[in-house]
Amino acid sequence: MAIAVVLIILVIGSVLFNFLTPWTFTPVASNWGSIDTTVIITLAVTGVVTLAIAFFLIYVLIKYRTRPGLKAVYQPENKKLEWWLIGLSSVGIVAMLAPGLIVYNDYVTVPEDAHEFEAVGTQWRWTFRYPGDDGVFGTSEPRFINGQLPLGLSPDDPNGQDDRIILSNELYVPMDRPVKALLRSVDVLHDFYVPQIRAKMDMVPGIVSWFWFTPTREGRYEILCAELCGVGHYNMRGHMVMAPQDEFDAWLESKPTFAESLTLGTTGGLVDQGEALVNGQGCVACHSVDGSPSLAPTWQGIFGRETSLADGSTIIVDEAYFRESIIDPQAKLVAGFPPVMIAYDFSEEQLDAIVAYAQSLGQESDNSDSSAPESEDDMGSSDASSSSDDMSLEELGAQVAAQNACNGCHSIDGSQVIGPTWKDLYGSQRTFSDGTTAIADEAYIRESIMNPTAKVVEGFQPVMPPVPLSEEQIDALVAYAKANSSLSVEGE
Ligand code: CUA
Repeated sequence: MAIAVVLIILVIGSVLFNFLTPWTFTPVASNWGSIDTTVIITLAVTGVVTLAIAFFLIYVLIKYRTRPGLKAVYQPENKKLEWWLIGLSSVGIVAMLAPGLIVYNDYVTVPEDAHEFEAVGTQWRWTFRYPGDDGVFGTSEPRFINGQLPLGLSPDDPNGQDDRIILSNELYVPMDRPVKALLRSVDVLHDFYVPQIRAKMDMVPGIVSWFWFTPTREGRYEILCAELCGVGHYNMRGHMVMAPQDEFDAWLESKPTFAESLTLGTTGGLVDQGEALVNGQGCVACHSVDGSPSLAPTWQGIFGRETSLADGSTIIVDEAYFRESIIDPQAKLVAGFPPVMIAYDFSEEQLDAIVAYAQSLGQESDNSDSSAPESEDDMGSSDASSSSDDMSLEELGAQVAAQNACNGCHSIDGSQVIGPTWKDLYGSQRTFSDGTTAIADEAYIRESIMNPTAKVVEGFQPVMPPVPLSEEQIDALVAYAKANSSLSVEGE
């Protein structure tokens, strides 16, 4: 009897939880509302069966409870009952599978007018490619894959020269047009998953899998890897931005073509070459160059720094260690950071350029007399550590903005990107998502950098992370914002 009561409580609790749950579907951002329908059908079928079994158990527990004189009977077989069970189970299974097969067929039957992008999974990051103006992807082959060209594009294929290469974790797609996602993996099984488009597909080494969707809701959505692919799996994340066509075009235009990426980091002084490589290869996504904390050790002042390794030993960072960490990142892991970096096989010249660039990022003050190797090449004007002394505050602000990739979201020319433009920001009237307003003065700008979601400007998503900057860097950014504004604030 007690078991029957527990079962009744369980049944009531499950039904209530189903309807009162805090875990609901996110708003669907694609044409795949039908995938939600199949989930609901499956939930309904399994829900009805679960309830039927629970009620049957409760009925049996009460009706056949232990009583004097009641004896169990052995019944080895009941053909009629078995046929009923087989029939009902079959109906339930068909009801769950058939809608899924219909939707899956739509999901992989791509409309004629769809445009394409390619997503490539590598332990543990995403890279993307769009066909160039010719609309045709260049061919790729495993033998062309290296750390510098992770997509393995054939260097001689004319169709591939204008392909746009996106070596970062962020992908744009234009609104309201069908798009076909072509999925490849370079190493192990990955899975491309964007919950808001309800789309998910395994990426299998050696084959190209695909699905299609139409973006229907502007926004920035997380791309997750949904297949356990090694220790860095949890960190294999990116973003998909659904943007209006003109915004998408501008973004795509800013990405290097394959032909351009082949010459990346071959012009300018050694430091400039290194900077181009570091930005082009996405190193700065994990390694800050200004000392700010990130996923990996900062490069500011890295040479001569005493570093604790994961095995408990310590090491002074010199050129040999720095080079080894690029071509064999797992050899000596720095304590406190996850072992998620992939190996890069740069040429010797490229490594020289990256070393020169990292050296140009300056020394930590308490190590300023350490014996870091000097680069023979001219350090030029991009020597950040020495130039910050003779830079104006406004110039320093521009540098801080560039180093922290602020311009990825905030334009300075008045165009609207992900965040509000900085043009004429200072002194302007702001309207916030809660309906209040304020004048953008120095205090407001400071607050928006350190605590971005305190006041969210109307019409923008609360997506900005707090940016950990020093007082001096914030002063510089404020000066930079003031210089970009024709307005002013009374009393400031
Ligand atoms: Cu890639 Cu998990």
